[in-house]
Amino acid sequence: MSKATFDPTKYNQSNNVPFAKVMENHLSRREFVKRSIGLSAMTAFAGAGLAACGSNNDPAGTAPPTTPPTTTPPTTTPPTKSSAVLGFDSIAGSKTDAVAIPAGYSAYVLAPWGTPLNSKANAWQDDGSNTATDQENAVGMHHDGMHFFPLNEAADDGLLCINHEYIDQNALHPMGPTADANGKRTVIDEVCKEINAHGISVVRIQLKDNIWQVVENDAHNRRFTGASVMDIAGPLAYSSYLETRYSPDGSQARGTLNNCGNGYTPWGTYLTCEENWPGYFVSHGTLTADQSRIGISTTDTRYGWNHLAGSDEERLDEFARFDITPTGASAANDYRNEANGHGYIVEIDPYNPNSRAIKRTALGRFRHEGCTFGKLEVGKPITFYSGHDSRFEYLYKFVSDAVWDEADANSSNRIAMGDKYMNAGTLYVAKFSEDGVGEWLPLTLNSTTTDGKTLADSFDSVAAIILNTAGAADLVGATPMDRPEWAAVDPFTGSVYLTLTNNTKRTEETNAANPRLNNSFGHIIRWDEGAAATEFSWDIFVFGAPTAADEDTNRSGLNDLNQFASPDGLAFDKRGIMWVQTDNGADEVEDYTNDQMLAIVPSSMLDADNKQQVVSADTQNQLKRFFVGPNGCEVTGFAITQDYSTVFANIQHPSNWPYSANAAQPTPAGMTIRPRAATVVIRKDDGGEVGI
Ligand code: FEO
Ligand code: CA
Ligand code: CA
Ligand code: CA
Repeated sequence: MSKATFDPTKYNQSNNVPFAKVMENHLSRREFVKRSIGLSAMTAFAGAGLAACGSNNDPAGTAPPTTPPTTTPPTTTPPTKSSAVLGFDSIAGSKTDAVAIPAGYSAYVLAPWGTPLNSKANAWQDDGSNTATDQENAVGMHHDGMHFFPLNEAADDGLLCINHEYIDQNALHPMGPTADANGKRTVIDEVCKEINAHGISVVRIQLKDNIWQVVENDAHNRRFTGASVMDIAGPLAYSSYLETRYSPDGSQARGTLNNCGNGYTPWGTYLTCEENWPGYFVSHGTLTADQSRIGISTTDTRYGWNHLAGSDEERLDEFARFDITPTGASAANDYRNEANGHGYIVEIDPYNPNSRAIKRTALGRFRHEGCTFGKLEVGKPITFYSGHDSRFEYLYKFVSDAVWDEADANSSNRIAMGDKYMNAGTLYVAKFSEDGVGEWLPLTLNSTTTDGKTLADSFDSVAAIILNTAGAADLVGATPMDRPEWAAVDPFTGSVYLTLTNNTKRTEETNAANPRLNNSFGHIIRWDEGAAATEFSWDIFVFGAPTAADEDTNRSGLNDLNQFASPDGLAFDKRGIMWVQTDNGADEVEDYTNDQMLAIVPSSMLDADNKQQVVSADTQNQLKRFFVGPNGCEVTGFAITQDYSTVFANIQHPSNWPYSANAAQPTPAGMTIRPRAATVVIRKDDGGEVGI
């Protein structure tokens, strides 16, 4: 995310601090082993979609979808321990305008910002002169979460879905954003270009001569932008909360913004997560409870897109909608509810280029970082985990009403599968207890609040709870966390890991799950679900820290070969390797290395009693630095081909990179280039599996 869009305000005023005392025996935590708890539209504008900022993203839904590869159900009981052994030497830190990789590997640039996806886009220009139309038909800016969807059952052909979290206006335009003497935006094409640089890219890529390449003009290539028309599903669909002049029946919303972490589903769709979206809207009226809780801006919008409201070229209120001040006689006459269409998990079927994106409101409305499903069991509900990335915010899970049917993995109607598993279920928020157990607190109307009432005393419907998810979570006594980012599930053990990136504003009170004051370096927590949907057991897997820190800070015994700070992106591959990516802002580690990606195989770290271990002075050599990004960047987004021969990772907001197609070639000293976020392709020179 970077400091550019991070909102440092503490919006959680609930003071939920279930365990307010600083834990006294910090060091004993290092040896802590989890305690078992029985684990084993219609729109108001006919022909809508023709907006100045976009016209090709509201498809009619007629072309046949492509069939993804089928999934073969396992026929034997899988082992509970990975046999993967990391086969590279941990690399040193790096601070150059280039990526760093282990010996025997190569890294090159794929699909950088501005790469044309079809012939409507002109080639990217290094003077920033590309138009809004170019941008609408080209890869967006500031790559973040990502997933690879194979095509034709091949490991050399597929679709890369890439989130674009936010923009750098100075890099996007020739001379930065144009504004008048009052700071008001004046150039429509600039604003449309900015809106179009947001969202998601779906990119067909193929491996040819050992180089992954974008297939320009492929029928699957498409963009979802900050203007794309999307359907609403789940409790908020067709509710009065979604009623706007554009969508008076509350069935649709326009655009997806600040798409940070991602997920995917067992039925082959992509999930993109709306994170720091509140700042894109402004209200000059009295904020509603949910607007105040989530942090809607009261001064101006982040990029001033609303400044062009009322201009002659504006279509369908495309700029006016970002100012959500009530102005009309009712919600159907203005955009007071426009922001209510944001803050969700959005499902995209990449295999069907004519499908619309769907906002799955049942999974809660907050600043979603990622969305990860738990270990699947036939006949059991599917669980999705998602963290709310702000200081002192919460961890959530959604448990589907429908139970998992393996045949659904191969359904050709993937959106119907989303309807089946993601529209009806129960949303829970996590409460961590200091004895290594925890409780998932349901957010339903009859949920008990900490003052002995129920949520029904504060909310009149499930839709109202969802709209103000964090406000409801305050009332039931959830645990305020140190900025929950991505979650990932170990395919062998089913343990769920979650990055807690940092919280330098935790100055007064810790809790068991967030035990360091002034948590500059972050940590990774993990848990196992219990026998009941409301139970879990947890421990802290690793604490970020600089090598030089004292024992109370460097609790995992990290050294120069694995010191890290601010874990953010997190993923497991199916071999059981966990990949940890960083978005660091702490000088103590930044002075040694740029942001990075590390690897570890947690399920193989067993003690004499076969219990999963944590990273400690004894086991820290299991955590290895695999990759370092160029100066100024964040490393985020992880994807891997099913033969493990290619890893994709994203470089977001580099300061002076990429100089050439070779990601490891430094920009020459003294040369300044227009920076471009990009995917980096990492492969072994011998074509073997990455990481082992
Ligand atoms: Fe966009 Fe929480 O990182
Ligand atoms: Ca960032
Ligand atoms: Ca981050
Ligand atoms: Ca992130």
